[in-house]
Amino acid sequence: MMKKIIILLLGVVVSYSCSVKNQDNSKKDINVYPVIPKPEKLTGMEGEFVIKSDTKIVGDAALEQEGNYLAQLVNMPSGFTLAFKEGKSNEKNSISLKLDDKIENDEGYTLSVSQDKIVIAGKTAKGVFYGIQSLRQLLPPELESKKAIADVEWKVPSVEIIDSPRYVYRGMHLDVGRHMFPVATIKEFIDLIAMHKMNTFHWHLTEDQGWRIEIKKYPKLTEVGAFRKETLIGHGATKEENRKFDGKPYGGFYTQEEVKDIVDYAAKRHITVIPEIEMPGHSIAAIAAYPELGNTGKQYEVGTRWGVYKEIYAPTEKTFDFLEDVLTEVMELFPSQLIHIGGDEAPKDQWEQSKYAQELIKKEGLKNEHELQSYFIKRIEKFVNSKGRNIIGWDEILEGGLAPNAAVMSWRGTEGGIEAAKQKHYVVMTPGHSCYFDHYQSKDTKNEPLAIGGYLPVKKVYSYDPTPKELSKEEQKYILGAQANVWTEYIGTPDYLEYMILPRMDAMAEVVWTKPEHKNWNDFKERLNPMAKRYDVMGLNYAKHVFTGKK
Ligand code: ACM
Repeated sequence: MMKKIIILLLGVVVSYSCSVKNQDNSKKDINVYPVIPKPEKLTGMEGEFVIKSDTKIVGDAALEQEGNYLAQLVNMPSGFTLAFKEGKSNEKNSISLKLDDKIENDEGYTLSVSQDKIVIAGKTAKGVFYGIQSLRQLLPPELESKKAIADVEWKVPSVEIIDSPRYVYRGMHLDVGRHMFPVATIKEFIDLIAMHKMNTFHWHLTEDQGWRIEIKKYPKLTEVGAFRKETLIGHGATKEENRKFDGKPYGGFYTQEEVKDIVDYAAKRHITVIPEIEMPGHSIAAIAAYPELGNTGKQYEVGTRWGVYKEIYAPTEKTFDFLEDVLTEVMELFPSQLIHIGGDEAPKDQWEQSKYAQELIKKEGLKNEHELQSYFIKRIEKFVNSKGRNIIGWDEILEGGLAPNAAVMSWRGTEGGIEAAKQKHYVVMTPGHSCYFDHYQSKDTKNEPLAIGGYLPVKKVYSYDPTPKELSKEEQKYILGAQANVWTEYIGTPDYLEYMILPRMDAMAEVVWTKPEHKNWNDFKERLNPMAKRYDVMGLNYAKHVFTGKK
């Protein structure tokens, strides 16, 4: 007889390491609870539930979407034709989904698996969705197969899980300006976010090297701004005189129909898509399309090299009208409460040279160009607030004074986030040292695909705690959560994208979901093995360093 195993908090490592070695679909597996991010409380029991072709999926009417999602997860690899039915069930051989007011956390859930039935309860549909994600990971990795496979028993070990997240903001960012990815890849990215119980996709849509979202009122943004004539070969730090370009036009954009489809796809997975429209910097593609938005009136070309450009928006009424029009269309497409307005890396050279900018500084009684940027962002904030939304920006928006209701994304380390929280502004932590997935995963960079630099192994991601110790208990409440950023100067293909996010994303998921007292690196590393099997079945190109021990 299998011994009853109770997994409580950290007392888990021994049972995992004994059983993970036997990762086949045999009975031994019931000792393995390969859930990432780690649940708050998981109690393993004797026995298992087997999903069969006649298993019923029933639940509250409000959970139809989640029920259909679960049915689809199972039907694809099993060839079954399970379907969600509204109702209650205490029947044997059923999976029940229900809402439960007694669960405190809006995203919390319980998952109960016994030999007879499975019950998933959530305070909200979102919680139920996360319960389904845990159930998914308790099923064999073959569940991820896109075609039916005959010889798998769809077993789930008996468990009781009680779970809820540490942070309300659990994000992944993707830059589609430097390189863009097909809609199908964006959806795969969203699916990975969902599987990891993350809830935010920060979509970086505009860059110097490409404007990627259709704006009806300004067609040249995509006719001109979405295409560059060529791309730098090699590293962005290459000296100007040594730069070589590939001579190949590159570009593309997402139509508003595609954007709606992606936002809807994400919403069905309880993921908010935060659009980012960069200002006042990282805007040479838009200025190339509409030179009157720049400070010089000169015709520029869409960026072809990496790095920071001096060409930024002029702080004119024309620019404000333009940005308000763009944001109006953007807010119609994205229901997100937070709208990202960029704000990073805006060199002030052109504003120093511009007669208009200098007169505006005088007229508004501003001290310098940093205060002019603050004026710029505050005006945009006022507009966004007037539509019932809030802005979030990179930590440079602190310089010259924070807009009254702005949230801050802290990327140049944690200092910006600490300062913003002290000023009682909401913060999302994305410090480069722990959250930049464009950094190398090995010190042996010669044998890695070209990357921007840095060294960010899975373990370093895992060890990150987004709540700075420097903050008081009261100030810590302003830390909404954290996010990993994926800048794509060197990431040109879905394959390479997968390599840079997996399995670092597993570590980030646990950073933002699991309370620190339940985190344990060795335990996590064991749970990564069955996750890697899932990635194998999904055909994903994950990085192997953490499995081979390569530094
Ligand atoms: C950034 O990495 N420039 C926000």
